[in-house]
Amino acid sequence: MKAVLIDRPGDETVLRIGDAPDPVLGPGELRLRVAATAVNRADLLQRQGMYPPPPGASSILGLECAGTVVEIGAGVTGWKPGDRAMALLAGGGYAEQVVVHAGSALRVPERLSLEEAAAIPEVFLTAFLNLFEVGGLCAGGRALVHGGGSGVGTASIQLAKAAGARILVTAGSEDKCTRCLELGADAAIDYRSENFAERVREETGGRGVDVVLDSIGAKYFESNLACLAMGGRLVLIGLMGGAKVEANLAVLLARRLHVIGSTLRARPVEEKAAIVAAFERRFGADLAAGRVRPVVDRVLPLEQVAAAHRSMKASEHFGKIVLKVG
Ligand SMILES: NC(=O)c1ccc[n+]([C@@H]2O[C@H](COP(=O)([O-])OP(=O)(O)OC[C@H]3O[C@@H](n4cnc5c(N)ncnc54)[C@H](OP(=O)(O)O)[C@@H]3O)[C@@H](O)[C@H]2O)c1
Repeated sequence: MKAVLIDRPGDETVLRIGDAPDPVLGPGELRLRVAATAVNRADLLQRQGMYPPPPGASSILGLECAGTVVEIGAGVTGWKPGDRAMALLAGGGYAEQVVVHAGSALRVPERLSLEEAAAIPEVFLTAFLNLFEVGGLCAGGRALVHGGGSGVGTASIQLAKAAGARILVTAGSEDKCTRCLELGADAAIDYRSENFAERVREETGGRGVDVVLDSIGAKYFESNLACLAMGGRLVLIGLMGGAKVEANLAVLLARRLHVIGSTLRARPVEEKAAIVAAFERRFGADLAAGRVRPVVDRVLPLEQVAAAHRSMKASEHFGKIVLKVG
């Protein structure tokens, strides 16, 4: 099969299209003919050799895809060849074929194209898991999400609104802030020109938010704690702003705060299946009705994977960059 290959870690120029062996189908798995995949920030790290795939996962980049089921592994029920599926992957999405545990696959709603569907699994499941299951966000609750214009951010805004919560986001330009507001954010803070912790306090009448979903890490640690309400949860999902902190832990005690680290990729397939099932139960109808939808910035052919990575590195995108494979 055709796939994006990397001979050595490096910048975008190491990405090349080549031939890779077809993945081997195991029990409990589906083989998909991939129509589209999407770029995630983690792919840029993996390309540079800084985020190796978990044991047993494909070394090919790509954490999500959408396509057509072409083969069913032993013991799989509920799927048949020809079904349209979108899937959360531990790797391997930048290729013509993937095999995936059936529990990591979701049906593609009729109204969506496979290119749109490819933009859903990684960021919607990350937003769902960390805002609600890990972060405990409830109807009437409040959340702050950094990078409102990111894949995870655009998913978070919509899921939080669908759940009846209030959502504040940060973004790096006036234009991105405007687009976050149009998507449903209650407040969008331009972190380049405003102090987000002060703005969060103002927007919440001094109370703070219940959950901060943070992909920045060290640079924002103390400001994130300052944004939290009594008993609030800081859910750390990325380290774009560094990993090492020196902080005053007294605020954790005084306001009974929780700091939680969370990753999706390396979880066992059984846990991923439970997350997928819980997401479908809670938001499947919203997705099917178009109340919640993927935000696709652009669709590029797989051959333009290097350009896609360059755009993401420069944060030129709003939402997802999709790669058309088929
Ligand atoms: N732990 C997990 O399981 C998990 C799963 C998926 C994703 N993630 C993480 O979640 C983050 C988002 O992923 P993604 O694929 O959605 O990325 P993405 O679309 O590339 O978005 C990241 C965005 O963050 C914004 N940003 C950069 N520095 C910022 C800062 N100091 N303050 C606020 N925003 C800032 C940038 O936009 P602007 O600066 O232009 O606003 C950038 O576009 C990444 O760190 C990724 O590794 C973690």
